[in-house]
Amino acid sequence: MTDLRSGLGEAMAAAFAALGLAAEFGRVTASDRPDLADFQCNGALAAAKALKQNPRRIAASVAGLLGDHPAIASVEIAGPGFINLRVTEAALSARADILAADERAGVTHATPPRRVLVDYGGPNVAKEMHVGHLRASIIGEAIKRLYRFRGDETVGDAHFGDWGFQMGLLIIACADAYPAIATQLERLQTQPPAWTDADEVALHGVFSAAISLADLDRLYPAAAALAKTDIAFRDRARRATAELQAGRFGHRLIWRHFARITREALERDFHALGVDFDLWRGESDVDPLIARMVVELAEKQLLVDDQGARIIRVARDTDRREVPPLLVVSSEGSAMYGTTDLATILDRKRFFDPDLVLYVVDQRQADHFETVFRAAYLAGYATEGSLEHIGFGTMNGPDGKPFKTREGGVLKLRDLIDMASGKARERLREAGLGAELSPDEFEDTALRVAVAALKFADLVNFRGTSYVFDLDRFSSFEGKTGPYLLYQAVRVKSLLRRAAAEGVEDGPIQVEAPAERELVLLLDAFDHAVIEAYDKRAPNLIADHAFRLAQAFARFYAACPVLSAEGPVRASRLALAALTLKQLELALDLLGVATPERM
Ligand code: ARG
Repeated sequence: MTDLRSGLGEAMAAAFAALGLAAEFGRVTASDRPDLADFQCNGALAAAKALKQNPRRIAASVAGLLGDHPAIASVEIAGPGFINLRVTEAALSARADILAADERAGVTHATPPRRVLVDYGGPNVAKEMHVGHLRASIIGEAIKRLYRFRGDETVGDAHFGDWGFQMGLLIIACADAYPAIATQLERLQTQPPAWTDADEVALHGVFSAAISLADLDRLYPAAAALAKTDIAFRDRARRATAELQAGRFGHRLIWRHFARITREALERDFHALGVDFDLWRGESDVDPLIARMVVELAEKQLLVDDQGARIIRVARDTDRREVPPLLVVSSEGSAMYGTTDLATILDRKRFFDPDLVLYVVDQRQADHFETVFRAAYLAGYATEGSLEHIGFGTMNGPDGKPFKTREGGVLKLRDLIDMASGKARERLREAGLGAELSPDEFEDTALRVAVAALKFADLVNFRGTSYVFDLDRFSSFEGKTGPYLLYQAVRVKSLLRRAAAEGVEDGPIQVEAPAERELVLLLDAFDHAVIEAYDKRAPNLIADHAFRLAQAFARFYAACPVLSAEGPVRASRLALAALTLKQLELALDLLGVATPERM
């Protein structure tokens, strides 16, 4: 199924070719001047430059060859040699009918399908989520959905940070804070001979009674701060980290407790945000692979001793900036962040053999990934080019620095969702919406508005751009916002409900009014927007399309009454409204945003 743009592009390419010119000149794009044309081709200018000929003459010759194309209503040469095209109402109507019958609203599949792993979110045990994790989750979820929808076999992995130095810090901090825990950890250096499941349950009871998530939230920042000034404390934490990794029994059990309570809370909050991972593997999951991997890296002569540590040098002569080496084994013998990342590449190769791995992680980790990827290519764990860091800018506070709460702390995901829901309730009431909803439905709608506000505000920017957190603006029902899009979707839903109640049926689409043309041209452009978003890993192009579609619908709805029209016109407009809703919801779903039924 091809869109009008590609269909015209083919005809245009054939016309250029017939004149002995390169077919590439025939590229057709949406018109910059919708008042003058639907599509345009600038190829005559490029061809003229290459051949040193008059562009308008070339354009005229091309135009002459397009004359009897059934989808083209008019061809005009504008300015220095732009070829402007208008398509026929019949072509628009036929295309709209095809889109209306297609459950994918025109989106084609990528061929051939690939296996794509999206590494995103990246939350950590105890260390609180910061805005980098928030953006990683929002952007990563959208990229995962986009790739999946295009037909790739796609797996999203949270890559839970459950293994580094922060775990040793927490173990020591808990032991210092709770004598009962210290006793247990002292006692359980190794697994006692007659250790049973019942013992494990009992111990779990001790941990649960003593240590809640709130305790971790309190203990971790204090311990991290202390480790910066108190060398003895830091050394104990380092040792605890190495012992944990070496398998010290009690340390493993309490660590599992930390990981479990953190993960449960995170999964709940992520789910509320419409972020659901397929895999929730942790850095720790690859620990069993590391010893073997280190031996293998040594055999491949990639490891170099460096002041007691073992590293892989990845710098190249051609580098224009310094690319740091990969620290594989620290001088204490611990595996580092990069070590687990390298082992994870190996692990993923075994269980999924991905064609492409997208790491949706803060731009500030660009060097880290460059290092890890090079090490992986050197070791033969991945094909050159199959690992890609999808970096992004920060969400800033009004001071232009990464967003923090008023108290100066990082923002917890739960608090952010609560804050955004509160704002959504306020906005709904202000706009006089939601009055007829039951309290439960109102809550549900407010949450959807909140999620739409947060996610759309993030995804509407190209990911590399930083933006300022402004909940007031994000939550407005006017402007380029998530709530505006939900509102337009809900308007269509209510129109469709009224039509059903009145027994009005839809029928073939007949494009007549200018607002209908405009709407169908946009509907036709969706596939192209999705393909471009996919190729550039840029969900903002989908956000943009969704917004323009909602606006086009609003103009159509204002200019073309539906239910008060009659006969085939009414049936056509109703079909057009239903098609718009389908595509709008699909676009929003790709962004990870769900629409409410009512407001
Ligand atoms: N947990 C890491 C952090 O908080 C992010 C993980 C990103 N993914 C990866 N494969 N390293 O910085």
